[in-house]
Amino acid sequence: MTGQDTTNALLQWYDRNHRTFPWRVSPADRQRGVMASAYHVWLSEVMLQQTTVQAVRPYFLSFVERWPDVGDLAQASDDDVMKAWAGLGYYSRARNLKKCAEKVVYDHAGQFPDTEAGLKALPGIGDYTAAAIAAIAFDRHAAVVDGNIERVIARLFEIATPLPKAKLAIKEHMARLTPKSRPGDFAQAMMDLGATICTPKRPACGLCPLNDGCAVAGRSDADAFPVKPPKKQRPVRRGAAFVAIDGNGMVLLRQRAATGLLGGMAEVPGSAWTARTDGALGTDAAPFAGDWALAGTIRHVFTHFELRLDVYRAEFDTRPLLDGGWWSAAPDLAGEALPTVMKKAIAAAIDLEPQPNLTEKGPLL
Ligand code: ADE
Repeated sequence: MTGQDTTNALLQWYDRNHRTFPWRVSPADRQRGVMASAYHVWLSEVMLQQTTVQAVRPYFLSFVERWPDVGDLAQASDDDVMKAWAGLGYYSRARNLKKCAEKVVYDHAGQFPDTEAGLKALPGIGDYTAAAIAAIAFDRHAAVVDGNIERVIARLFEIATPLPKAKLAIKEHMARLTPKSRPGDFAQAMMDLGATICTPKRPACGLCPLNDGCAVAGRSDADAFPVKPPKKQRPVRRGAAFVAIDGNGMVLLRQRAATGLLGGMAEVPGSAWTARTDGALGTDAAPFAGDWALAGTIRHVFTHFELRLDVYRAEFDTRPLLDGGWWSAAPDLAGEALPTVMKKAIAAAIDLEPQPNLTEKGPLL
């Protein structure tokens, strides 16, 4: 199979097998000249950096119902945008979303720039998102490489170099395969192939339209590609978290500092997270006196360290005061901007409702 054959085979497969999403224009409509809205593509791509397509769908729909275009979003209050984002994770993304909408409105007369370089100059838009919007919304010849596409290409060409070193070669292959016409459909076709057939484990090579041209098709080690880098030994940090519960079962929360790890998100009070073993890690670190009892120790892996957090709980008839703190009822916790590590900590101390619908993906910041 030549590169051209690969491209054509994939586009033909996409015409029949594409997934349907509220932010996507079908290939048939695209061929009739319908363009995807840059606002929709941008919004969905920023949300999809966070979680899965299933989890994004309801968030996307409620955003576009409430703020039908970028001008509406630019005028929304920060607080409303943050609240609508709650549950999707990292608040810095929501903050950048609002800043980006403002910049499009005030510096670009409400129109998203239609080139990769122009898009990359906007807040919160990096290489991947710029390429995705340029290709999908503006049919620019941009090489879009997300995790799904990385996997498809690493297998097609049996790339033995481990990630992340292989990224440059993968991008070059993608640039070469991407056609001058239909670059946006091609990128989305690669994503769909990676999500439905060329899956991380046990790919369905028998169903793959690129089977003939794939270096590892049908091999039992196909899922060894892309080759992963050797596992990092992460340093361990320790900390203590304190779940204070009032007479009505409400939990005391506070907000983390606006910048830094999990900036601006909610947490239960706790100690600093430290690599030292002689810090105040036990009940000495409690925000106020109480009948603190160890409820359990949770483990959470961040990109640069592993955290072991001792979780203490105590009940209070009279609510203690905490500067900047607020009390949240258990059913409301799902709507708070709690990072996963804090959901785990609270779950160690009280019975939490299971959280439907949200699977975090990607590296934790
Ligand atoms: N994942 C990230 N962007 C996507 C898109 N545009 N379509 C499907 N899955 C995606």
